Amino acid sequence: MKIGILTSGGDCPGLNAVIRGIVLKGTTSYDLEFVGIRDGWRGVVEGDFVPLTRHEVKGLSKVGGTILGTSRTNPYEGDRGGADNIAKTLFGHRIDGIIAIGGEGTLAAADRLSKDGIKVIGVPKTIDNDLRATDYSFGFDTAVNIATEAMDRLRTTGDSHQRCMVAEVMGRHVGWIALHAGMAAGAHAILIPENPMSLDEIAELVQSAHDRGRAPLVVVSEGFKLKGMDEAFSDKGLDAFNRPRLGGISEILAPEIERITGIETRSTVLGHIQRGGSPSGFDRVLATRLGLHAADAIVDEAWGEMVAMRGTDIVRVPFSEALGELNTVPQYRYDEAAALFG
Ligand code: F6P
Repeated sequence: MKIGILTSGGDCPGLNAVIRGIVLKGTTSYDLEFVGIRDGWRGVVEGDFVPLTRHEVKGLSKVGGTILGTSRTNPYEGDRGGADNIAKTLFGHRIDGIIAIGGEGTLAAADRLSKDGIKVIGVPKTIDNDLRATDYSFGFDTAVNIATEAMDRLRTTGDSHQRCMVAEVMGRHVGWIALHAGMAAGAHAILIPENPMSLDEIAELVQSAHDRGRAPLVVVSEGFKLKGMDEAFSDKGLDAFNRPRLGGISEILAPEIERITGIETRSTVLGHIQRGGSPSGFDRVLATRLGLHAADAIVDEAWGEMVAMRGTDIVRVPFSEALGELNTVPQYRYDEAAALFG
């Protein structure tokens, strides 16, 4: 059997480790053949395939980004898009099925193609950790480690100047990165999309930390909304999926905190630094295991399903479970962290 592998949507540390896991297990245990699909669904639509053997994946588990490239192309758009055209393109290249590694948008497209007769298996990916079907997604741990290190650094400069430091992390719909990195770095306030707060409530926490002689650290998710805001802050237009590009809420909050408390305040947006570089040890193992299990899923012809982490096990779930409801931070997890605020 010949299988195409693609990575689609925003990149994420660990994508290459998944590719390596699939190819190594697929070629050594099962005699499968693989091709790489360039730039996500674009490569499927345009028939842009590259060789993918043991040779191409050697040493990849530690390498960030994706050797296959990625895009946010919708496979149903364009002259050559749509399930019928894609089926013809795959048939022309003797490709029997696809492994799609991606987040919600990618898996939604995979689900639709699968219902339209294309053989697809999914592997979930997101640094935001917002997919409900998997307890953890690879890339998240790396992002938390990068953000934690950045906050440790912000704290030493904040301490030196007795300033309030506002650190903004990714997290479009959910606050997992902010919650974990904020707890790890000992933040005095963590602001997440699931829990809108007012400026006065935030200022109170900042003031209380300052009154105890601490340089306050506020961690905020890009998707955080102040009470009364209908949408997350965005001033950068739309992305290729027509979603508002987020980033910059910390720059709104910092001068307001300074105005209310009188404490000098600075903001830092960590942005794509959180998605770059080598995956952590945890993410390399998780991504590799997902890859190995995806190879098993091909042999079992588990089309229309994705591999996912439940507890410490890798399981298979239908695409539909990954879609719709998000993996939000439960209130009890936020309350736990909130006991340390101020
Ligand atoms: O979905 C992951 C994510 O990192 C979000 O947190 C963020 O809003 C988005 O991707 C940014 O994507 P882009 O690479 O298109 O700027």
